[in-house]
Amino acid sequence: MLQDLIKIAYLVSAILFIFGMKRLQSPATARKGNQIAAYGMLVAIVATLVAKPIVTPVEMILGLLIGTAIGWIWSKKVEMTGMPELVAAFNGFGGIASAVVAFGEIAKLIQNTGTDDGEAFVMSTAVTIALSILIGGVTFTGSFVAYGKLSEKISGNPMSFPGMRLLTLVLAIVSIGATVWMVMGAGAFPDDFMTTAVSVEFTEPMIYGAIIVATAAFLLGILLVIPIGGADMPVVVSLLNSYSGMAAGATGFVLNNTALIVSGALVGASGLILTKIMCDAMNRSLLNVLIGGFGGDGQTAAAGSKSMEGKNITEVSSEDAAILLAYAEKVIFVPGYGMAVAQAQHAVRELGDELQKRGVTVKYAVHPVAGRMPGHMNVLLAEANVPYDQLYEMDDINGEFDTCDVAVVIGANDVVNPAARHDTASPIYGMPILNVDHARTTIVLKRSMRPGYAGIENELFFNSNNRMLFGDAKASISKVVSEVKGLD
Ligand code: TAP
Repeated sequence: MLQDLIKIAYLVSAILFIFGMKRLQSPATARKGNQIAAYGMLVAIVATLVAKPIVTPVEMILGLLIGTAIGWIWSKKVEMTGMPELVAAFNGFGGIASAVVAFGEIAKLIQNTGTDDGEAFVMSTAVTIALSILIGGVTFTGSFVAYGKLSEKISGNPMSFPGMRLLTLVLAIVSIGATVWMVMGAGAFPDDFMTTAVSVEFTEPMIYGAIIVATAAFLLGILLVIPIGGADMPVVVSLLNSYSGMAAGATGFVLNNTALIVSGALVGASGLILTKIMCDAMNRSLLNVLIGGFGGDGQTAAAGSKSMEGKNITEVSSEDAAILLAYAEKVIFVPGYGMAVAQAQHAVRELGDELQKRGVTVKYAVHPVAGRMPGHMNVLLAEANVPYDQLYEMDDINGEFDTCDVAVVIGANDVVNPAARHDTASPIYGMPILNVDHARTTIVLKRSMRPGYAGIENELFFNSNNRMLFGDAKASISKVVSEVKGLD
């Protein structure tokens, strides 16, 4: 009876996870989605602790309260822009938890060997113990290197040393070899070992193999992430997120826990899908991201930049920008990384409100990889209470630039670079962009002529219908707002 209830609870938690994730698809429902998934987690934790009474009810409640408090305080304290590093750290904890649980299972074997309590395992359990340690270990150290890069505790520049790739390869081979040794050493298996339960005895290869796998995995995690530039970390975090899901899924098989298998599979698959979406939006292969060397702290120019020497730019004052905007019929705001740096989102919304009061149609165009993390612009604009119905994804708004009077580019650069459409030599060639150059006029807000993340110049800035408004985006927009307010 209790076992049936536990199974139902796991099913309920899996359903809550799926509904929660479904709601993450839109900024309007994302908050609720997070809450639903959190309730799913609560159901799963309670069901597990009831199913395997490893702690007393008091300890259980105490543990829940402490864990909830840490998560609550940390999430409340973190700046919106610090979210990727928080996710990286949580991933790391997920990875190490899987590895520790796997070691716990080995410890149980050691304890039970030679006694009547010897556990009956199928061989696949021995394999999943090894996988939990391997994937969990890589996820742990890799995530914390990503955390260090994102929080600027270590340099965001790609790092390497002579022989690094060879060492990575050797460690990968060692970890696979030790995994096989560990599994084979777990006991004598019958021919149908994958499905038939056999008593797994503790043997020395098992524990030594596990230690070698863990050491190699920890080093691999570091070596795989250090060559990747800081600005590529969101892609890496998403991939590591997928790994932590796989590690949790493997641990689910070790513990025979349905909720862990389902949630691990969900995290593993969704992390992989998000990684693919990000790579596609940047028009780069995952291999290209993982090999590293592209981008750093976002300030360094990469090779391949094309000079626009001899071409002129036209500057615009905040007064003239205000007139252009106030007498337009349709204005589209295009935010980018610079809006996040300047924290200009509130000023941008104020400008949008002022223009709407004057009868201007205002829309916001969001590129999938604008900024430095998935959903970066959506989060900032939502924080500034920009109505969701004014936010448009790239494919939904690109056709509208032809009928737009003024496109205002706020600290965006690569995501509006027309070279992506036609310059086959450009590192961003093929990346889908927002077609702001189709608007009657464009106004670009940035501080200088410095390039963006890809390190290349932007031909948009030299177009005859483009105006540059130099300065910090928040200060510039605030000036434009007061100018618009001053117009009658
Ligand atoms: P970027 O191309 O990086 O350009 C940002 C621009 O903002 C810079 O040119 C900079 O020019 C300007 N800026 C910085 N601080 C500013 C401030 N305080 N006020 C005004 N302007 C400021 O940004 P983007 O167009 O958003 O493109 C994102 C890039 O990041 C893409 O190449 C994308 O592939 C990459 N990327 C994105 C992600 C995700 S998931 N979003 C992940 C990895 C990589 P100044 O220095 O002259 O001001």
